[in-house]
Amino acid sequence: MSVKCLREDRRHTGVRPLKTRETNREKHGFWEVLRAAARLCYNRAWEISANDEFVPWTKIMSDHSHDGREAGTAHAVEKYLVCPRSRHALVVREGAISCASCGFKGRIQDNIAVMSDGNQFSFFDDKVKLMRRGILDRGANWRISFERQVALLQRYFEPGQVILDVGCGPHLPYERPPGAFVIGLEPSGPSILDNRQVDLGVCGTAANIPLYAHSVDLAIAFYSIHHMVGRTVRENDEIVAKAFSELGRVIKPGGCLLVFEIAPWKMFAFLQRLLWNQVRRLLGVKLDMYFRSVKSMLELGRVAFPDAVLEVIDFKYPLFATFPPALSLPWLRIPKLFYPLEMRAYKWRSPVLSAKTSAPTLEGTHV
Ligand SMILES: C[S@@+](CC[C@H](N)C(=O)[O-])C[C@H]1O[C@@H](n2cnc3c(N)ncnc32)[C@H](O)[C@@H]1O
Ligand SMILES: [Zn+2]
Repeated sequence: MSVKCLREDRRHTGVRPLKTRETNREKHGFWEVLRAAARLCYNRAWEISANDEFVPWTKIMSDHSHDGREAGTAHAVEKYLVCPRSRHALVVREGAISCASCGFKGRIQDNIAVMSDGNQFSFFDDKVKLMRRGILDRGANWRISFERQVALLQRYFEPGQVILDVGCGPHLPYERPPGAFVIGLEPSGPSILDNRQVDLGVCGTAANIPLYAHSVDLAIAFYSIHHMVGRTVRENDEIVAKAFSELGRVIKPGGCLLVFEIAPWKMFAFLQRLLWNQVRRLLGVKLDMYFRSVKSMLELGRVAFPDAVLEVIDFKYPLFATFPPALSLPWLRIPKLFYPLEMRAYKWRSPVLSAKTSAPTLEGTHV
């Protein structure tokens, strides 16, 4: 693989209850107190109550399409999608998607091709408005996460491309190239339902992309890789490795994968790996992020795209520029100096021919 690196976070009773802390600890235990505190902070951050239930997103979908696009969606499903189990062609009849080879059944609902079992939920199901607002407001988060990144991405757009946006969310931050066909792949039903910019919305996962091999000119993962998580670090690694392998399968010779991601500082990455499983047990599905080091991203790409040319683009920001570290807390601003994460883009271009390229080279540039 040729690597080209462009360098561009009491009650008073008269008797003083000396053992308050110990009593609490006995009653609840250290981890329970920690769990309650973490849950309180996290729920507040995401503006949800600890008792909120995730509503299966299919309940908010209607059984009927309203805008007359269903025939176009059925045609697009048959043209672009394959069975997620057997990779055979699919047939659509009256909104039902089926595979004659293995019996897989999906469906078209509200013009979305539902290729997962439909009862899965993503932690993003109730973050749709926040994410959409974060993009449309074009505030500090936009400037640090999107502005230069979108400008870079648009350099790789060409008219008529088949574009796959993995983890597209409810709104595309970029202008689509003319004549392109954009497929949005999302496990979050409400997000893909809200996204009216994609030509074909697919409810599914990057770990099992229901597309034909070598059918995509440009695949984009805009800050979605760090959200591909399971219950343990090991599962996180497996999911992302599968996603990369799938991306390697669907991209055409000469096609590109552009990944925009947040790379942790070394100490952050070390502590994250050490503590993630424990914190996940405390927070459950609310811990839905795992940041990958540049080294692990390069390794994932090396395996999935062994002959590709890689560019790593490093987005530098002034150390004293302040911005909100969390989309959900726009009022909280910290200087870049204290943010243990860096914005990076990785671009793998697969060779037109499968001939082995020369030894890796490394170059650097700031954007
Ligand atoms: C931070 S949002 C980014 C959304 C959008 N790309 C943007 O830039 O606004 C991360 C997205 O990744 C999606 N995601 C999580 N796990 C995924 C998976 N296994 N496959 C594809 N997308 C996934 C989430 O549902 C969420 O919409
Ligand atoms: Zn099948």
